[in-house]
Amino acid sequence: MIRTVAIVLAALALCACSGFQTMLDPAGDQARDIDVVWKTMLVVCGVMYVLVLGFLAWALWRARGAGRLAPDPITGETPADPQLRRSLTGWTALIAAGLVVLTTVSFLVDRSLAEAGPGPLKIKVTGNQWWWLIEYEGDLPSENVLTANELHLPAGRPAVIELRANDVIHSFWVPNLSGKEDLIPGRINYIAVTPRRIGDFRGQCAEFCGLQHAKMAFDVRVDTQKDFEAWMRRQTTSAANPTDARAVTGKQVFNSKACVMCHRIQGTDAGGTTGPDLTHLKSRRHIAAGTLPNDRGSLQAWIADPQGIKPGTKMPRVPLSADELNAVVAYLETLK
Ligand code: CUA
Repeated sequence: MIRTVAIVLAALALCACSGFQTMLDPAGDQARDIDVVWKTMLVVCGVMYVLVLGFLAWALWRARGAGRLAPDPITGETPADPQLRRSLTGWTALIAAGLVVLTTVSFLVDRSLAEAGPGPLKIKVTGNQWWWLIEYEGDLPSENVLTANELHLPAGRPAVIELRANDVIHSFWVPNLSGKEDLIPGRINYIAVTPRRIGDFRGQCAEFCGLQHAKMAFDVRVDTQKDFEAWMRRQTTSAANPTDARAVTGKQVFNSKACVMCHRIQGTDAGGTTGPDLTHLKSRRHIAAGTLPNDRGSLQAWIADPQGIKPGTKMPRVPLSADELNAVVAYLETLK
């Protein structure tokens, strides 16, 4: 029985300690520091909890059937009073020591979180109901990158992310990399992130921001510096002109319908900024802010009925015939 319980607990601990969206599996400097605070709190509070319960059980055991001891007629003390005084002093010292450890660790980690390393990569993230606008500032304006819902970072290089909001308060949270930071309309906040492990992670809006708050996620890709630079270069290119007949029709449909009012496709007439930039849509893993996988079926379903998938989203249902819908999707699939 005890063995089974131990195996179940060990399995639970292992499941909970790895993953692409968990603070228990730190993959960056800031997350590792936060992990230190979490483990210190767990140990200090766990030890206190076990001690308090242990002594309570011991006191109850000792008090079985014991009557109240008569106080000394001169001092007014019962024989138990000196021992009580000693144990109260001991407990107070123990609690004070625990609080000092917790306060010191929190203070030091809080300070380290506020510092970004030298030569940080500068990124701007803007929260919208319910998607993320992501901008990288290049050395030249032509090297600026505009994308959505997918953050790319080079491993080992500190990044400072400037956080803004267009409508309501959102919160930026990639638990494997760092803590939470709010995006507040009318003000700019910053969060430092220094990823250390190459891999895919997931971020999630962590502040209730309306109906689709839960569907306001984003992908995070941590690459080597070389792969990151290659990604940046690809992202600065304009969309290639489609060659396939259906995709050519799709481009015409896209540019003649309401789509262009909200979406930008670099190198075409589409220049809207209300919705995500679609220039390299197919390079992303998900669509609709982490809601659906980026495949043909999802694209069709999303364009056919965005309100059915994400009720309240700003994207309206644009009336399209079946042929037009297929053509638009064929065009979007060329945006690599
Ligand atoms: Cu944005 Cu919750």
